[in-house]
Amino acid sequence: MFLKGHWYAAGFPHELGREFLARTFLNQAVVMFRTENGTPVALEDRCAHRRVPLSLGRLIGDTVECSYHGLQYDCSGKCTRIPGQKRPPPKVGVRAYPIVEKHRFLWIWMGDPEKADEALIPDYSMLDRTGLQVSNIQFHMDAHVQFVIDNLLDLSHLAYVHGTTTGSPEISETADVKIVRDGDSVRVLRWMENVPPAPAFRQFGGYEGNIDSWQVSEFRPPTYVRVSYGSAPAGHGIPEGDWYEDQGHWGFYVYHGLTPETEKRCHQYRYVAFDPGMGDARTIAEFRFQCDQIIIEDSVLFPIQQESIDRDPAETSARDINTQVEIVHDGGLSAARQIIDGLLAEQENGRRNGVAGAGKKTGRKTGKSARVRVVAN
Ligand code: FES
Ligand SMILES: [Fe+2]
Repeated sequence: MFLKGHWYAAGFPHELGREFLARTFLNQAVVMFRTENGTPVALEDRCAHRRVPLSLGRLIGDTVECSYHGLQYDCSGKCTRIPGQKRPPPKVGVRAYPIVEKHRFLWIWMGDPEKADEALIPDYSMLDRTGLQVSNIQFHMDAHVQFVIDNLLDLSHLAYVHGTTTGSPEISETADVKIVRDGDSVRVLRWMENVPPAPAFRQFGGYEGNIDSWQVSEFRPPTYVRVSYGSAPAGHGIPEGDWYEDQGHWGFYVYHGLTPETEKRCHQYRYVAFDPGMGDARTIAEFRFQCDQIIIEDSVLFPIQQESIDRDPAETSARDINTQVEIVHDGGLSAARQIIDGLLAEQENGRRNGVAGAGKKTGRKTGKSARVRVVAN
């Protein structure tokens, strides 16, 4: 089950042109293309006649023609021609999805088209900022999207999965962690003062001595996650606030577009935004390489987790893992799951009861630690 009344990342703008791009989002087959004037279009990828995917057909101007019996559709999904018939019956057509290009992503609205409001697209405007460069990558994975969200809200894994780049033992052992729940959003702030720099911070930040380092992962439903990394020589201190525009001496931002395909597959589109002043072209190429290496290291794990769940008949879903233990670092992802659970329940009930998921008990227990503080704003 997925949250439907939201914008989801459908891909990168450069992927979309005059060729059909067929993808499945939330169990719905979608065909996308650009009109002759460049406007993105998204239609149900299933002919109204005998259900052949329209993506197997062809574009004639801005008209989509099915490859089987030649039914034609306009960009609103309305059937405009049935070969051999004078005119199509008035209500024949396929579903059209609102789709827009914003902040370097394509966003598709998977709910009631009447309710599609561009103001609900997440604020990824950092990606439009002049002076920053971006590095992008995408994955189509055999794993529930929840595994990816879990990963991004618990950066203690950096110490183990990304030990050659952004990871260091302090991230999981001694970091001060604060979890801020603010309505339907969660932020996990991770502070490390006077610690040895992780390899990537030493290499690209140019540090020789210890550093102060800060990270924040933010989740907003249904699947929006952005992460900010910053650092400075030890003694600088941790910046104020719950989201770090201040990256100190060296850092970068990560923006994720995560979209479920099915209960067992998902799409991930990711940008890293960084200051190109960190070094020469070779240094930047190496940084980009490491950014990709990091996300590849993560992406290998998710299908393995999915397979592990699928193999065990006692496990039902990635959203409800029969974990034997909740560890101290699970606070952020547990909060995100509560928010999603609350919104899914509301979607099911067709009503909204104040702040979604607030106070909802999931039966999960998070281990207590003096280092982790949960704050509700
Ligand atoms: S299946 Fe598309 S025209 Fe028949
Ligand atoms: Fe990771």
